[in-house]
Amino acid sequence: MVKNSLMNDLAPSVIRGSALTYTGDPFSEPSESALRYVHDSILVLEDGLITAFGDAGSILPTLPDGIEITTYNDSLILPGFIDCHVHYPQTQIIGAGGEALIDWLDKYTFVAEQAFAAHDHASESAKIFCDELLRNGTTTASVFCTVHEHSADALFESAHSRHMRMIAGKVLMDRNAPDALQDTAQSGYDASKRLINRWHDKDRLLYAITPRFAASSTPEQLELAGALWRECPGTYVQSHISETLQEIDWIQELYPERNGYFDVYDHYGLTGQRSLYGHGIHLTDAEWQQFHDTGTAIAHCPTSNQFLGSGLFDIGKAKQPGQPVSVGLATDLGAGTSFSMIKTMGAAYQVARLAGADLTAAQALYLATTGAAKALCLDDKIGTLEAGSEGDLAIIDLKSTPIIDYRMGFANSLEETLFVLMTMGDDRAIRATYVAGNLAYQRD
Ligand code: GUN
Ligand code: ZN
Repeated sequence: MVKNSLMNDLAPSVIRGSALTYTGDPFSEPSESALRYVHDSILVLEDGLITAFGDAGSILPTLPDGIEITTYNDSLILPGFIDCHVHYPQTQIIGAGGEALIDWLDKYTFVAEQAFAAHDHASESAKIFCDELLRNGTTTASVFCTVHEHSADALFESAHSRHMRMIAGKVLMDRNAPDALQDTAQSGYDASKRLINRWHDKDRLLYAITPRFAASSTPEQLELAGALWRECPGTYVQSHISETLQEIDWIQELYPERNGYFDVYDHYGLTGQRSLYGHGIHLTDAEWQQFHDTGTAIAHCPTSNQFLGSGLFDIGKAKQPGQPVSVGLATDLGAGTSFSMIKTMGAAYQVARLAGADLTAAQALYLATTGAAKALCLDDKIGTLEAGSEGDLAIIDLKSTPIIDYRMGFANSLEETLFVLMTMGDDRAIRATYVAGNLAYQRD
């Protein structure tokens, strides 16, 4: 990571406690070999990075005498959580219910997003959003803004002042939305390009070209989105795919010449590494194959899918041997119901069960950390605790409520401990959050 002006040159921070990270993929190997658990570990954070991680017995002798050590007992040190798909302007409509996707968009979402025409409203919302991410141990997110260019400025400013690694983009919409929320193919391209010039690769920030979904963009807009992506290497694409059956029928009507939903995005050059699609619940076998073949990633949004009644994402299908698809976990607020990636893991487990699949706690946690970093092609920077990674951590309190404390007393293995955390935990379990090596949130 390039050191930037925002990172203070403080003395190294040294943290001690039980820690968990991944050295492999628990979907393709046993969790015992995919996990690296260090019961009594030391992490050294310096200049924004993790500069040492390992057993306390081997690292302590290498540290200067008298160095201050912050010890977290009854806790688990994890890489900061990564939320692969979230709409910050929808923070104000979490829990606005009673409708399926398309009606929910019309009745609540598009109304709320129009308020972001006001700069102050966007700035205030972006600050609340970033603070809430940190309160939940989430240090990176891939964020949808509104159609307004300044809504993306507001989010990037908030993330920048908190030193967060953040991906975001202004939404592109030139049809099937209220007039006040529409751009044009050209104005959307121009605004996105200005935002890329202002923010992409600035310190820890990255830009995602963000056509909302194929139903709210004309073919011309998708064409220009694809052209912009080709012109700006290193940027991302994010959108939605196959969330509901009604939406899939609509896409078929809007793009009769295309051979399915994935083919629409593929045709306009919007698939491949660094492209990430929310949902993917109702994919055909051919589309699963296309996701695998192209390296396109899926953001799995279980609380959103439950809330809107969209369907059950099949993690077993996504990770089928020989044809695995890159998947990261996501809240998809405000259709999603919680900022907590721990709660989102719990929902992913329940959705997997209902879909007839299995999901271990080690796998769910992987989807919220290392697996998410891989889906975002950022696994060389975040999502692990290994030395050289950026210093983003979530410190988990394993006794965050009386009943969790009681239940943990009966947990006989690491997997069981993780399972209880996943099933019963929420924002109260976040004891502290570190961003770029510095303490960014402390619960008590
Ligand atoms: N599809 C298109 N836009 C949206 C959105 O804002 N939320 C969800 N859940 N699905 C979408
Ligand atoms: Zn979404």
